[in-house]
Amino acid sequence: MKKALITGVTGQDGSFLAEFLLEKGYDVHGLIRRSSVDFRERIAHLEGRENFHLHYGDLCDSSSIFGVIAAVRPDEIYNLAAQSHVQVSFDSPEFTADIDATGVLRVLEAVRHAGLAGTCRIYQASTSELYGKVEEVPQNEQTPFHPYSPYAVAKQYGFWIVKEYREAYGMFACSGILFNHESERRGETFVTRKITLAAARIAQGKQEKLLLGNLDSLRDWGYAKDYVECMWLILQHHRPEDFVIATGVQHSVREFALLAFREAGIELEFRGSGIDEKGYDRATGRVVVEVSPDFYRPTDVVNLWGDPSKAKRELGWNPAKTSFLELVQLMVRHDMEKVAVERAGERVRTNLAEYLEKGVVK
Ligand code: NAP
Ligand code: GDD
Repeated sequence: MKKALITGVTGQDGSFLAEFLLEKGYDVHGLIRRSSVDFRERIAHLEGRENFHLHYGDLCDSSSIFGVIAAVRPDEIYNLAAQSHVQVSFDSPEFTADIDATGVLRVLEAVRHAGLAGTCRIYQASTSELYGKVEEVPQNEQTPFHPYSPYAVAKQYGFWIVKEYREAYGMFACSGILFNHESERRGETFVTRKITLAAARIAQGKQEKLLLGNLDSLRDWGYAKDYVECMWLILQHHRPEDFVIATGVQHSVREFALLAFREAGIELEFRGSGIDEKGYDRATGRVVVEVSPDFYRPTDVVNLWGDPSKAKRELGWNPAKTSFLELVQLMVRHDMEKVAVERAGERVRTNLAEYLEKGVVK
C-alpha cells in the first residue's frame, strides 16, 4: 500500500485529492494546523476512516515538518498548503512568503534529512499566477514567467527551488502549473464562489447586491475534482517534469456572473463601464451587481489562458471532462441548496457573507 502525505488537506484541492487517493487504495496522511476550532468542514466526512490519518504541523515550522515526514516516511508528498489568496498576499506579504516560498524549501529539506530523497516523489502546487503580467497567450511550459503579486513571487521561489532540488539531488520533485480550478468547496472569497453564493442569496431574497472588482479579468477555469487526478498523474509519470494544467478555454468574470445568476433564475444585463458598470436584474430593473474599487488589486493578472497540450499528450489527461457551463451550474446548484437552509446569524460564516457584501473582507 502506497503512503501519501498531503499538506493543505483541509483546503479545496486537498480534500478532493484525499478522496481520490483513498479510492486508489493509498494510505493517506494529511497535515493540519492547530486551530482553536476543531472542525474541518471539507474533510469531516473522511475523518475516522481507515487509511486516513491526520498530523499536526505547520509549513512555517521546520521542526513539525521534519517530524511528520520522518514519522510517516511517505512514498508521495503533495505540497498543497499555502496562503492561496492573491489579494491577501498584498496585505500579508511576509506571511505569504514564509508559507508559499520558504515552506516549500522546508518540505524538500525534511525529505532529504529523512533519507527519502531517492524514494519519495514530491508534487508542488504551482500556479498560472507565475505568468502574471502575461508575455504570451495561451501560456504553456515554455512561456516566460512574470509574477505580478507577492503571492506569485513567493510561488515563483517554490517553483525554482523544486527544480533546483530535482537537478542538484536527483529528486523526483515536480510542479504542476495549475490554472484556476473551482468547485462547490472553493473558498468563499475567491471570485467564482463569491458569485455563486451571492447569486443564490440574492435569488432567495437573503442578500441585496454583490460587489465585485475587475469584471474584465479573464481566467481559464476548470473543475478542481478533475485537476487532482492530474496531480497524481504527474507523480506517476516515468520522469519528473513540470506540467501546465488548464482547460484551454477562457472566460471573463462578467461571463461567469451572467451564467451563475441565470442558473439561479436571474437574467442579468450589464450597463455602464469601469467603476460605473452595474448588473441589472432584467425582470425587475433592480441593480444586483456593482463594481467597487475595494476589490481592485494593486497589480492584477487579467489574461490567464492555459495550453494543456503536454498534459494531454504525455499524461493522457482529459482537460474537457467538465465544461465551463457544467462547472458554473454545479456550483450554483450546490449553493442554492446551502443557502436555502442558512438562516441569518446562524453560523459564523454568515458574517463573512456580510463582510464581503460591505467590502470589509477582500
Ligand atoms: P485553499 O483552499 O486555500 O487551501 C490551502 C490549504 O493550505 C488549507 O488546507 C490551509 O489550511 C493550508 N495551509 C495554509 N497555511 C498553512 C500553513 N502555514 N501550514 C500548513 N497548512 C497551511 O487552496 P486550494 O485552492 O486548495 O489550493 C491548493 C494549492 O494549490 C495552494 O498551494 C494554491 O496556492 C495552489 N493553487 C491553487 C489554484 C486554484 O485555482 N485553486 C491554482 C493554482 C495553484 P487551513 O484549512 O488550516 O487554512
Ligand atoms: N477574489 C475576488 N473578488 N476577485 C475578483 C473580484 C472579487 O470581488 N472581482 C473581480 N475579481 C477578479 C480578480 O481581480 C482576479 O483578476 C480574478 O477575478 C480572479 O480572482 P480570484 O478568484 O481571487 O483568483 P486568482 O486568479 O486571483 O487566484 C486563484 O487562482 C490562482 C491560479 O491562477 C487562487 O486560487 C490562487 O491560489 C491560484 O494560484
